[in-house]
Amino acid sequence: MASVEEHIETNKERFLNELLDLLRIPSVSADPKYKADVARCAEAVKTRMEEAGLEKVEVCPTKGHPIVYGEKIIDPAKPTVLVYGHYDVQPADPLELWDSPPFEPVIKDDVIYARGSADDKGQFYMHVKAVEAMVKTGNLPCNVKMMIEGEEEVGSENLGTFVKENKKKLAADVVLISDTAMIANDVPSINTGLRGLSYLEVEVVGPNRDLHSGVYGGAVANPINVLCEMIANLHDKDHRINIPGFYDAVQELSDAERKELAKAPFNEKEWMDELGIKAARGEKGYSTSERATIRPTLDVNGIWGGYIGEGAKTVLASKASAKISMRLVPNQKSADITKLFSDHFNKIAPPYVTVTVKPHHGGEAAVTPTDSIAYKAASKAMEETFGKTPIPTRGGGSIPIVALFEDVLGLKTILFGFGLDSDNIHSPNEHYGVFNYMKGIATIPKFYQHFAEMSK
Ligand code: BES
Ligand code: MN
Ligand code: MN
Repeated sequence: MASVEEHIETNKERFLNELLDLLRIPSVSADPKYKADVARCAEAVKTRMEEAGLEKVEVCPTKGHPIVYGEKIIDPAKPTVLVYGHYDVQPADPLELWDSPPFEPVIKDDVIYARGSADDKGQFYMHVKAVEAMVKTGNLPCNVKMMIEGEEEVGSENLGTFVKENKKKLAADVVLISDTAMIANDVPSINTGLRGLSYLEVEVVGPNRDLHSGVYGGAVANPINVLCEMIANLHDKDHRINIPGFYDAVQELSDAERKELAKAPFNEKEWMDELGIKAARGEKGYSTSERATIRPTLDVNGIWGGYIGEGAKTVLASKASAKISMRLVPNQKSADITKLFSDHFNKIAPPYVTVTVKPHHGGEAAVTPTDSIAYKAASKAMEETFGKTPIPTRGGGSIPIVALFEDVLGLKTILFGFGLDSDNIHSPNEHYGVFNYMKGIATIPKFYQHFAEMSK
């Protein structure tokens, strides 16, 4: 029988083509227009999981998009790995900024371009193929349970319910997720933390209708002006967030911990050049890497109101709105922060407008230990395939279900991501390296092997 490595080498073309097929399905969870495509994607994932040798594969309906679950139990006495990933993707717009259509994947210079290529189809599918390689060659050393959801990009609310209702089914020893990035292809790293999130929408209403800006301008408050002023006041001159109590729960890192994290290589000049910015900006007293990972933030994600069509229209709009997100760090509770924001925003509203704050979704931050068997197994696996020990780093993004896996199932997670920050996830021209895809498929079986051995 072939070895795991031989199986991967022989089937490389097929592994790539199967991923491209998945990428052709526009499984956009946020837009109801794609509901049937999301369902079709779940079915495709189910078929692929079955073909890979997983058993009891099912598409589990939820109030929203379905969850695909499958398992391969070789021996109940052996340790169990719970793999999590998401087959839903972010909306692809603005479409005009893509060099090739987002759902017509192309491979150019060994890079796969498509919405979802890195986040997260390309990454979760590495697990399906790694399991295939282990099962088909008789080398699966532990039990595996695989749960791939369709609502990560919209907050994973129904998955939370599913996890709470299926504690027994999901019982495992560790959670394994590939949905984050490494420092560089020659600088492997493992994420040991994620930020939480509080997301909301605000609306500022002034006069009861749009007005002529000449007839009324100067005498009636313009809701767009007011909204901008209110938003500007949410940060102080040191770029700290101006909401009373916002930092109260923040877990400050010790100097030793900050020093440890600062060991990860980071070239600020290259980083700025790659983004096309002349200077970085953030909270006083923290480095650029710290600002993007271990510190909380507040950002406007979208803002609208008034006339934005062709040409000019002299109008004083009746309303203005914005979508605002706050990234949170350990100990800050999403619901508490949403309330703090809401109370504050209402309090600073001037008497000449009416403000409403509508909470969206949220999630808690998570940190994962580096002294666990699972971390050591992951580190050893990467060391073997990259030739370098991975550096522990903290990530700035959010995967809300990670905190829930810990609270509800008592499980720690290994964030075994193989992407890069420059993959343009959530942006036009999202891409994932063939190198990264194949490296992930090669590294995952080594994790299983070390995890099984070290658990003995
Ligand atoms: N895979 C990302 C999260 C991520 C990206 C973590 C890069 C670390 C590094 C995930 O799909 C995502 O986009 N999550 C959302 C949160 C969700 C509640 C919408 C996010 O971070 O905005
Ligand atoms: Mn993701
Ligand atoms: Mn995402």
